[in-house]
Order: sequence, then structure tokens, then C-alpha cells
Amino acid sequence: MSLSIVILAAGQGTRMRSRHPKVLQPLAGRPLLAHVLETTRQLAADQVVVVYGHGGDAVRAAFPGDQTTWVEQAEQLGTGHAVQQAMPAVDNGALVLVLYGDVPLVTSGTLERLVDATGNDHPAILTVEVDDAHGYGRIVRGEGGRVLAIVEEKDATDEQREIREINTGLMACPAAQLADLIARLDADNAQGEYYLTDIVELAAARDIAVSAVVAEDEVEVMGINDRRNLAEAEAANRARTARALLDSGVTLADPARIDVRGSLDCGTDVFIDVNAVFEGEVSLGDDVRIGPNVIIRDAHIGDGTFIHPNCVIEDARVGPSCEVGPFARIRPGTTLEDGAKMGNFVETKNTTLGKGSKASHLTYLGDATVGEGVNIGAGTITCNYDGTSKYQTIIGDGAFIGSGVELLAPVEIGANAYIAAGSTISDDAPPGKLSVARARQVLVESWKRPESKK
Ligand code: UD1
Ligand code: CA
Repeated sequence: MSLSIVILAAGQGTRMRSRHPKVLQPLAGRPLLAHVLETTRQLAADQVVVVYGHGGDAVRAAFPGDQTTWVEQAEQLGTGHAVQQAMPAVDNGALVLVLYGDVPLVTSGTLERLVDATGNDHPAILTVEVDDAHGYGRIVRGEGGRVLAIVEEKDATDEQREIREINTGLMACPAAQLADLIARLDADNAQGEYYLTDIVELAAARDIAVSAVVAEDEVEVMGINDRRNLAEAEAANRARTARALLDSGVTLADPARIDVRGSLDCGTDVFIDVNAVFEGEVSLGDDVRIGPNVIIRDAHIGDGTFIHPNCVIEDARVGPSCEVGPFARIRPGTTLEDGAKMGNFVETKNTTLGKGSKASHLTYLGDATVGEGVNIGAGTITCNYDGTSKYQTIIGDGAFIGSGVELLAPVEIGANAYIAAGSTISDDAPPGKLSVARARQVLVESWKRPESKK
């Protein structure tokens, strides 16, 4: 049977108290719905249908070029109504898997179990045992554990509210059967909505078995309704990511203080200190050490490189065997070649620092190509911008730039050239020669220290 996934994402999410649709709230740096879509890709579904409503344009715009079918549910009349809107777009011979845009941490393994449980001829629901069932639909079972109904909290009797097995909302059912059951739903309940959950009772009444798959991990099936849930999911996801990193051989100073908002790929014997944040696609080579309070986005850090505390690195290639920081800022388009060193309060943008070159203190290098074995003195600045355009600075191998030098781009410093401290270099400096460009010091004999006026 082919697999069609229907994702319900039309709810407003009033409890979030936000101007933005709930499914666009970020978890680990990505919208809730992005997590669900990512999981559907792992299942290789034949078709993915997203039911959207509130903030529809914003939701669609957040996923340009995605291979999904978008179905609008103009009025949110309940989960059953939402699935009904999707059915015309679904292949009648498919098996339908219903996911929620606000249940982001479910794993593909659990969903495969749910799909298998249908035997391709009856509904299967995903349930979980929880300590606090507040707010969830309860699973009502009869003789022999047979699933009879799902009762929403607001419709439940006191006795039913004691039930600890709850509905995760996720279910699977053959399309034709699902359409048939949904057609029989009514809105005769506390919320006046068409509940998808009522298909269970309808099926039971017609002697169609309903399988229940019990999820092992409560975290997986957490529904995000408010900001507290979101914070809990963030912590749960963080713990899950940290466990995976530890299992793969990474040392974490504190598994509770690492945030991965994207993907992080690590070599062997990597050490990551506290409060590191990784965004986008980051890869760390073997023996990399990441100091505390470091933020790295879309970058590769080569083998044996040491990132000291409080660095921000974005869109860059660093290493191998480099040292960066503390307090360094690497901006997009930066490459640090083997053994380069970038110290405190150094900023780079569109710059290559060649093998073994050093910029150890208080420097800005923008649009610069720095050769091998170059020493950049403290306080050096490439003046790469004239208010309109950007210009290149080229520094040859073995050059020595004294402290406090301004390089007025476009300008080229030859190999092994020496630039005197405090120079403002506006002309190319020839290789192997000393260039000095600064006013001569004068002694003002007549000067007197100003006296304070009484
Ligand atoms: C639902 C279930 C409940 C379950 C819980 C798990 C029903 C009736 N109840 O309750 O049994 O324990 O999820 O988290 O199904 N949506 C639409 N259109 C609508 C209404 C909802 O697309 O008209 C979407 C929402 O965007 C959301 C999902 O369906 O992604 C669930 O809706 P929500 O209102 O959060 O349902 P719950 O009250 O949490
Ligand atoms: Ca919900």
C-alpha cells in the first residue's frame, strides 16, 4: 500500500499567545512543522498533505519549494473536519498516516510501528502512558484491553479522567475506511467540534478492530500547546541530542548546556565546553576543542583546532590545527588555513589567513588575502570600504605588519615586506623592504601643561 501522510497544522494555537501561527514557533531553531516534515522524509511517504488555516500564507511561505500538497481548512471545525478537507487530495488506495504539526519530536521508528499495526485493513492509534494526563484525550479500553473510544478531557467523566493512557493524536488508517468513518462524525460534544478521535468509537461500534501502539517515550509524543510545553520540548530535544553526541564519542562538559539548532557532525575525541550553540550545518574534525560560550553557524572546524571561549564563527572554514579567540569574531567568507592563529578581539570577513599566519590582538581583516607565515600586529585594520565599494588587501608570504597599521585598500603588501608600526599604507609596499608611512614625531618645547581654573 502506498503511504499518504496528512499533517494537521491549521490550529491557531491561542494558548501560545503569539501573533504567529503555532506551527511556525521555533524548536531547536526550526519551526515545529519543519521537524514533522523532516520526519516524513525519513518515512519516504508517497504523498504529504499539510492542512493549514491560521496564518496560512506565512506557513506556506516558510516552506518554499517543499514537495507537499497544501490544503486549506478555512474554518477550524476540529481535527476530524481537518482530515476531511485533506481526503480529496489523498489517493483512495493509500494508507493514511495522520500527524500533528504540534507534535514535533516523534521518531520515524515509532511511526513505522504505527503504520504496521494497521495490517493495511483497520485503524491504529498511537497512545502513551503519562503521569499527568491533563488536557489529553483518554483511551477507553474494554474487555481484553479492546480499544473502545477516545474521550476528550472536556467530555470525560470523573472516572475517565483517572485514565493514564492518553491519545497522542497520531493515527493510521486505510484511506477509504477513514473517509467512510469521518463522514459519520458529528460535533455533538463539549467543544462543538468534529473530533477525529470519534472514529475510534465509530469503528468499535461496527466491529472494526482498532489497534493501539503504545509509544515508549513520552517526550516523542508531546503536544506543544503553550510556551511551557515549548520550553519542555526544547529541553527534551537538547537532552536527546546530547545523548546522541555522547554515544558517538563526544565529550560534553555538561549535556544540559549544549544547543544544536541544525546538524552537528563530530570527529573522534572532540571536547565541547558549556554553553556552546551550533546552528545550521556544522562539522568538527578530530580532537577539536570548543571552549565555553562559543557560537558556530554553518562552519567546518578542522582537526586539532582549539576554539577558545566566547567566539562567534559564521560561514567559515577553520583549521586544521588553528587557534581562535578568546573573543574572536569570524564572519562569513573566512578561511583559516593550517595552524593559523586568531587572537582576542580580532574580526574577519571575506578573508583568508594563510598557513601559520597570526593576527593575535585587536584587528579587523576584511576582504583580505593573507599569505603564509604572516604576522599581523595588534590593532591592524584593513580599510576595505570607502562608503560605496569594498576593496581587496593582499599580503604576501612572510610579511610583517607592525602594530596599529591601517591598510587602505586596494593595496598589496609584498612577500617578506616589513610595515612600520603606526603606518597608514595607501600605496603598494614592495617585497622584502621596510615601508614607513607616518608623520615624524616633534617635540614642542614651548608647551605647558594646562592649569585647572580655580
Ligand atoms: C488533540 C486530540 C486529543 C489528543 C491531543 C494530543 C482531538 C479531538 N483531540 O487534542 O485526543 O490527546 O490532540 O496532543 O483530536 N487542527 C486543525 N484543524 C482544526 C483543529 C485542529 O488543523 O480544526 C490541528 C492543530 O493545528 C493541531 C492538531 O490539529 O496541530 C491538534 O489540535 P489541537 O486543538 O491542539 O487538539 P488538542 O485539543 O490538543
Ligand atoms: Ca494539541
